[in-house]
Amino acid sequence: MAPSEPPLVSVRGVRMVFGSGETRVEALRGVDLDVARGELVAVMGASGSGKSTLLHLLAGLARPTQGQVVVDGTDLAALDDDALTAVRRRRIGIVFQAFHLVPVLTALENVALPLALDGVPQAEAEARAAAALDRVGLRARAPHLPSELSGGEQQRVAVARALVARPPLVLADEPTGNLDSRNRAQVLSLLRGLAGEEGRTLVLVTHDADEASVADRVVRLADGRVVEERRGAGRVPAGPA
Ligand SMILES: Nc1ncnc2c1ncn2[C@@H]1O[C@H](COP(=O)(O)OP(=O)(O)OP(=O)(O)O)[C@@H](O)[C@H]1O
Ligand SMILES: [Mg+2]
Repeated sequence: MAPSEPPLVSVRGVRMVFGSGETRVEALRGVDLDVARGELVAVMGASGSGKSTLLHLLAGLARPTQGQVVVDGTDLAALDDDALTAVRRRRIGIVFQAFHLVPVLTALENVALPLALDGVPQAEAEARAAAALDRVGLRARAPHLPSELSGGEQQRVAVARALVARPPLVLADEPTGNLDSRNRAQVLSLLRGLAGEEGRTLVLVTHDADEASVADRVVRLADGRVVEERRGAGRVPAGPA
């Protein structure tokens, strides 16, 4: 990577306020953050510190009250809703704690869905979905419904879905929160392997310090502010078997 290359993600002076009067909550109070192309950054912090709010802003799922969120050269706040939806489908993949697979669709159909919604012809969408399932080691599970898969497998399907449009940025919000330790290590190792591959950049939200060590860099939020930045170990922690 050329040293002069601009960061893939650039967050500047971001504040996020919810509600007003007695219910007013200032979830982010002036956050600056750059993420380099190919980097894996973990965002840590206590419950309520603003991690998910920050991730939602990076995903274009919400707009900041103040400040700038630039992803891959595009200022998300400057886009109208249609343009934002297009950026979300093509340039950002998201993985949530609760998988969010569509229960009546097979693994293959779930992974193909973002492409189908974007107008990609079915045969091409399914071929690309099969390749994405292959990447997460689940090609053989393509015809299965989510209910026929283990939690770890469901989350790997969700990761494949996040990858299928080949977005430069993949965001994951506590992706191992619903998994046992074995599946957790598998998903973490999968995410670790995805960072840098094809220049892909990952932001991983976790409240677990062990898990955060998988990252190249760890950013800690407290009360809506970045209070610490440090290098991560960049490998999957040797947790309990
Ligand atoms: N849509 C919303 N409306 C009002 N307040 C909100 C909203 N979303 C988040 N908040 C508040 O903003 C603060 C930060 O919330 P956020 O979900 O970002 O925390 P978090 O770090 O992800 O916590 P957790 O570890 O529990 O997931 C909290 O005080 C929360 O109650
Ligand atoms: Mg959260």
